[in-house]
Amino acid sequence: MEAILEVDRVKKHFHMARGLIKKKIVTVKAVDDVSFHIKRGEVFGLVGESGSGKTTMARLILRLVEPTENSIALEGEDIFSATGRSLHRIRKKMSVVFQDPAASLNPRSTIMDSLLRPLHVHRISAGESAERIEEVTGQVSLGKELLHRYPHQLSGGQQQRASIARALVLRPKLMVLDEPTSALDVSVQAQILNLFLDLQNTYDLTYLFITHNLSVVRYICDRVGVMYLGKMVEIAPVDRLYAHPRHPYTMGLISSAPVLNPHLRSRKKIFLQGDPPSLANPPEGCCLSSRCPYADEGCFAEVPPLKEIDCGHWVACRRSSEISEK
Ligand SMILES: Nc1ncnc2c1ncn2[C@@H]1O[C@H](COP(=O)(O)OP(=O)(O)O)[C@@H](O)[C@H]1O
Ligand SMILES: [Mg+2]
Repeated sequence: MEAILEVDRVKKHFHMARGLIKKKIVTVKAVDDVSFHIKRGEVFGLVGESGSGKTTMARLILRLVEPTENSIALEGEDIFSATGRSLHRIRKKMSVVFQDPAASLNPRSTIMDSLLRPLHVHRISAGESAERIEEVTGQVSLGKELLHRYPHQLSGGQQQRASIARALVLRPKLMVLDEPTSALDVSVQAQILNLFLDLQNTYDLTYLFITHNLSVVRYICDRVGVMYLGKMVEIAPVDRLYAHPRHPYTMGLISSAPVLNPHLRSRKKIFLQGDPPSLANPPEGCCLSSRCPYADEGCFAEVPPLKEIDCGHWVACRRSSEISEK
């Protein structure tokens, strides 16, 4: 399958002043030398604890922030060098659904106005706009009677359906979904996840699905990338990642999630020591070195590159072949 999106050694570093009297500039490496690609038609999951750089990665892809180094290509076109019409065309191919629908819909606009806005920006005719709104609201099961209401007059689930409808009106190719179900009630979460799967079939969509919820990943994703402290530490097809995680961080994540299947409860567990360090003060060498039970001297000395250890399975750990998981 061909790649729709290629992220090539991208870095996003934030420089911030710290300290009240003696100002010191600290660098936060939110995304640090990350490469991966998303294949057309797949659901690529991005997982990792909060603060690992997932939202910054999403904002880079959507060109809401500029990278410190290197670039991202959508359908072969560099998104950061694009200007004018080519930037307009790139923007039309991508859309986003954020975690908090109330914050992403304009509180002073009706749902209808929020849906019309991207269509106006991209100069879609009034007739065609009306048709598209009718179609997408039907697809996301958002009742017509809700279109003239304001966001606060809708439930959380209805608001998220409205955000999804808005993300669909321009017929994007790639949708970035940043924790799109995390703020919803559990019963609504499952409905929205199934809605995403239905929409993917209907519109041939590709998703970047960001979450910290491992059961959601397992349900919806085809391949998964695991981020820790701004680094991509492992990439694998979802079944493989759960059956044979090869990075100690991924093993730790899987070990700390509740196991519903009793047959799997006896699996070897790995627990990471302590809390994640500050991004402004990361450990020497490998990003996990300060918490990894397997770290040796070499792990503190060098940053391990992400290497393909098996077909489609990439790991950034110099000791992964010694650490086998039963
Ligand atoms: N605009 C910004 N200015 C400074 N630091 C930022 C900014 N955006 C994100 N960060 C920092 O980057 C790190 C990664 O954040 P984020 O990408 O939101 O992670 P995640 O989505 O995985 O929780 C955090 O330490 C966060 O404080
Ligand atoms: Mg986030």
